[in-house]
Amino acid sequence: MTANAPFKPPVLKQNDIDRIAARLDRPVVLVGLMGAGKSTVGRRLASMLGRDFVDADDAIEEAAQRSVAEIFDEFGEGYFRDGERRVIARLIEEEAGVIATGGGAFVDDETRSLILTRAIAVWIDCDIDTLVERTARRNTRPLLRGGDPKQILTVLFKQREPFYSQAQLRVRSEDSPHADTARAIIEAIDQWL
Ligand code: S3P
Repeated sequence: MTANAPFKPPVLKQNDIDRIAARLDRPVVLVGLMGAGKSTVGRRLASMLGRDFVDADDAIEEAAQRSVAEIFDEFGEGYFRDGERRVIARLIEEEAGVIATGGGAFVDDETRSLILTRAIAVWIDCDIDTLVERTARRNTRPLLRGGDPKQILTVLFKQREPFYSQAQLRVRSEDSPHADTARAIIEAIDQWL
C-alpha cells in the first residue's frame, strides 16, 4: 500500500456475518422516512443474516385486505395507525427477523417504546433529494398526494427527526447500493451487541 492510499474498511465476510447473526437475539426494525429504502435494504439484510423479512405495510394490507391508500381513503389515517400499532406488536411478538416499518410507525409512542425495548431500531437516514427521487417512482403513498413531495418530506423530516434519532442505530443510505447499506447495518449491529 502506498502512503497516500485511501483507507478502505475491511469488507465483512459471510462467516463474520454468520457470527454476528448468531449473537442477535431480537428483531431488527428499520425506521425512517418514505423512500429511505427500508423494504429493499430490509430484504437484503434479512437474507444476509439468514432471517425472515416482513414489511409491516404489507402485513397491514393483508390483515385489512386493502391497500394502504385504500385504508387511508376509506377509514382515515387514525384507523391506519391503530392497525399499524397492532401489526407491529404482533410481528415483534412473533420474533420476526427483520421488520421494515412504514415511515410514521416509530412516531407512535407505544410502538416506539415496544421496538426500543424488544428489538433493535435502525434509522435509515437519507437526504431529502434522494427521498424525493425514490418516492416519485410509485404513486402509492397517500401522504405525498396532497402537495409538493419535497416540501412534505422536508416537513415530515423536521417533525420526525426527534423520534428517529432515538433509534439505537443510525446509518445513512444516499446513493450507495442497498447491499452496502445492509452491510453497514450489520457492522453497526456488531458494535452495538
Ligand atoms: C407513511 C409511510 C408509508 C406508509 C403510509 C404512511 C408515513 O410507508 O406506511 O403511506 O407516515 O410516512 P413507507 O415509509 O414504507 O413508504
